[in-house]
Amino acid sequence: MGSNIRILSAGKYLPDNVLTNYDLEKMVETSDEWIVSRTGIKERRLARENEFTSDLAYKALLNAAEKISFDLNELDALIVATGTPDRLFPSTAARVHGLLGLKKEIASFDLLAACAGFSYAIEVARGLASQGYRYIAVVGAEVLSRFINWNDRTTCVLFGDGAGAIIFQSSDEPGFIYGKLYSNGSLEGLLEIPGGGSMLPSCTADSQEYKIKMLGREVFKYAVSELSSALNEALVKTQTKVNQLSGIFAHQANIRIINSVLERCGIPFEKSFNNIERYGNTSAASIPIIIAEYMETQGMKQNDLYAILSFGAGFVWGVHLYRHS
Ligand code: COA
Repeated sequence: MGSNIRILSAGKYLPDNVLTNYDLEKMVETSDEWIVSRTGIKERRLARENEFTSDLAYKALLNAAEKISFDLNELDALIVATGTPDRLFPSTAARVHGLLGLKKEIASFDLLAACAGFSYAIEVARGLASQGYRYIAVVGAEVLSRFINWNDRTTCVLFGDGAGAIIFQSSDEPGFIYGKLYSNGSLEGLLEIPGGGSMLPSCTADSQEYKIKMLGREVFKYAVSELSSALNEALVKTQTKVNQLSGIFAHQANIRIINSVLERCGIPFEKSFNNIERYGNTSAASIPIIIAEYMETQGMKQNDLYAILSFGAGFVWGVHLYRHS
């Protein structure tokens, strides 16, 4: 038992239904060239009608467990980070617990921090580990396609569905050597889904109030400015040189946001592992999906140091430095 956590396994699930930029050209006035040059996205996945956020989360977690033959009944906690839960309650995590038929001694709950959900869940998992929890699953899962106004070209080209799952193990090794979370709740109107909660519960199902609304340019500027200063602060406080970083796992909202942040921090673009081209912005799922793909293709080596950064509606954001053990 330890007071930090290490990554034991990572899994993912992406629905097989692909929506390309060329498909979007037939739906709204846009072009593959505009979307690729402004965002880096070429295609995204969409859940089938009968697939819910919990189904995606369930499959991603099973994938993570199968890779290391891990018995999911060994978990002490199951956290689902999502901004698109199946229902207001019960939680999506409780449904995943039920789908897996897990034992009752496993805590399950959702965490809502929009696209920064994975960063926030890391901090919660670290806290649980310090209380004696040994195995903690953090799943980022989203079905954003149900919350998109498919007539709004400024948002519908950006998002996709998917899930990524990390099984953490408590550890005495350093693990997360740095973690800091931030928020600025005064800018809530720049990116929101206004309806569906207690503030606006009674809009009809097809109402645009249930859909994502965003002032993209403002979000872009704020994200670049705050993420670059938060990452710089992390590097300075831990006396980390850029060449000591093995890689960056950044929330996949826009390749231009990622590259602008890296440029401001003096980090070569190749350090960041990206999949936005294939999946678009999958919100809380994007970082665990990238980590799963990184582990599949390259693998993390002992002592490798990674930066994890995310930004989402709220605004909320966070930066971590993780040393693998
Ligand atoms: N296809 C074609 N043209 C489009 C378009 C689309 N899908 N979406 C917007 N445009 C048009 C705009 O209407 C505007 O036209 P105008 O100049 O005639 O008014 C023009 O393209 C430029 O729009 P602008 O919003 O300035 O573009 P941009 O370079 O800022 O890129 C975003 C727009 C949304 C891609 C970008 O602002 C962004 O990614 N913001 C951050 C969003 C985000 O990541 N949110 C999630 C955070 S977790």
